[in-house]
Amino acid sequence: MCGIVGAVSARNIVPILVQGLQRLEYRGYDSCGVAVYADGLKRARSTARVAELAEQVAGEHIQGGTGIAHTRWATHGAPAVHNAHPHFSHGPGDAAAAAPGRVAIVHNGIIENHDELRAALKARGYRFNSQTDTEVIVHLIDSLYEGDLFEAVKAAVHQLHGAYAIAAFCKDEPHRVVGARAGSPLVLGVGKDENFLASDAMALAGVTDQIVYLDEGDVVDLQLGRYWIVDRNHKPVQRPVKTVHAHSGAAELGPYRHFMQKEIFEQPRAISDTLEGVEQIMPELFGDKALSVFKQIDRVLILACGTSYYSGCTAKYWLEGIACIPTQVEIASEYRYRESVPDPRTLIVTISQSGETADTLAALRHARELGMEQSLTVCNVATSAMVRECKLAYITRAGVEIGVASTKAFTTQLAGLFLLTLTLAQLRGHLTETEEAQHLKAMRHLPSALSAVLALEPQIIGWAEHFATKEHALFLGRGMHYPIALEGALKLKEISYIHAEAYPAGELKHGPLALVTSEMPVVTVAPNDALLEKLKSNMQEVRARGGLLYVLADADSKIESSEGVNVIRMPEHYGTLSPLLHVVPLQLLAYHTACARGTDVDKPRNLAKSVTVE
Ligand code: G6P
Repeated sequence: MCGIVGAVSARNIVPILVQGLQRLEYRGYDSCGVAVYADGLKRARSTARVAELAEQVAGEHIQGGTGIAHTRWATHGAPAVHNAHPHFSHGPGDAAAAAPGRVAIVHNGIIENHDELRAALKARGYRFNSQTDTEVIVHLIDSLYEGDLFEAVKAAVHQLHGAYAIAAFCKDEPHRVVGARAGSPLVLGVGKDENFLASDAMALAGVTDQIVYLDEGDVVDLQLGRYWIVDRNHKPVQRPVKTVHAHSGAAELGPYRHFMQKEIFEQPRAISDTLEGVEQIMPELFGDKALSVFKQIDRVLILACGTSYYSGCTAKYWLEGIACIPTQVEIASEYRYRESVPDPRTLIVTISQSGETADTLAALRHARELGMEQSLTVCNVATSAMVRECKLAYITRAGVEIGVASTKAFTTQLAGLFLLTLTLAQLRGHLTETEEAQHLKAMRHLPSALSAVLALEPQIIGWAEHFATKEHALFLGRGMHYPIALEGALKLKEISYIHAEAYPAGELKHGPLALVTSEMPVVTVAPNDALLEKLKSNMQEVRARGGLLYVLADADSKIESSEGVNVIRMPEHYGTLSPLLHVVPLQLLAYHTACARGTDVDKPRNLAKSVTVE
């Protein structure tokens, strides 16, 4: 999703801007651009990768000490150079339509009242060269400009409805950049005699580790060696400066072909880091206030999007089955807009890799407005808005995840959610000491169990060769492996572009069986659990219709390969933590199928990593 970098310095900041964009690339984008002050406004924009933008910038000798840069993920207006940011104002006083005006801006978010603002600005003689809502903001700022950019931005954001993070500069005040945020992330990086803006601290790694997290509605004025912030009511405020050791994340691939493959193989390490220091089950794993929060709840409401939603769906089986606590899981974008019946004794659990997903944040705030004050997040970014806004947190230590298709974030979320389950079970009297010890032992075994599953890769590659020639696939699971089937189908569709659906196997005969032919591979997650015999009947239903089965059977499932039935035997029987292990072959299947089809695995078309707009 869109990424912003901005800087005011006495040195040439173009390399910092470009490097910052490279560090934000993982969020997903379709075009990029940079603008600086160099005796006027100068910019370069591209629909290619940031590396090519860097060449363009060097070729055109674009240099300057004040500038802004952007990676764009199209919302209003197609991915095209004329829609790429930065945008320049073109006011009634500016000569040719293409000639730069005086204000430059980059923007992340969606302005909901852009139509009416555009009409008003057009009536005043402003010319529009793009289909973006962003161009409305730059013209609006220009129309309000009376020699002070900070004042103009403050007045402009007052008129905006929707979500935004912006960075702007004006050629009449060349040593100043103004930023503002509401609903989209923006941080201030404090340097020595220079200041920066960015969508996240990682973009500024190696430039400054002194980070200020701007609050909702803040407007910030950056100048050489000084900055100040006003809140949504335009009152001057001091925000804490935090030392953030963000690593660049522009990670090396090492021996891997893609970040997704690397991240799949990092899972043993990610899980062991996530569980490091967990010697016993206790509320404090989730924060100092955890005991008091957990005493005030009788139910759980999980809110999340995408892959994180599926980890929540899996956790529901654990929370109800082990902790005996009523649990509801909702897609954040649905929950935030539907009428619901709030219960103040609910623990709101948000799950998010990035901690910045707009819908999940909005759903959390909606729940709070409904009177549900107790909140916990399972999140991979300790400095994110989600962690800042929730009372409690479990920080997963997956490390930076670059691949758009989430893998190690998912399994580490499951580890965190399993700990939450055990903690609530203990507090509610459903966990004996013996059970606690057994569960902890099973969790400690996870890294080596995951390594053994990863060793199945050559067999999965064999499956992927078949899948690469298909256009549809069905995934079946039962119980807590149904969300794993959903996640397997999501992985396959998002990176290989094969239409994939997942069903709870018992539903097969209520519809999807009509689709089963020899052209429809059917993946079945079949561990030896209480539902195995029922699942075997569902598999027979598929075989009887000529469907080809691809079965993940654990060591005790007693399912053998035969005609039309391809079995990969999991190395062990895993018990309650089985979903965490069974998802790995499905990640590998999607990955190798996508490779065989030649898709852009780490940056699938139309998708973004961090979805900071609605
Ligand atoms: C996007 C990403 C997914 C992710 C989802 C939720 O769609 O491509 O990989 O699962 O957002 O993101 P979050 O950061 O909240 O987990």
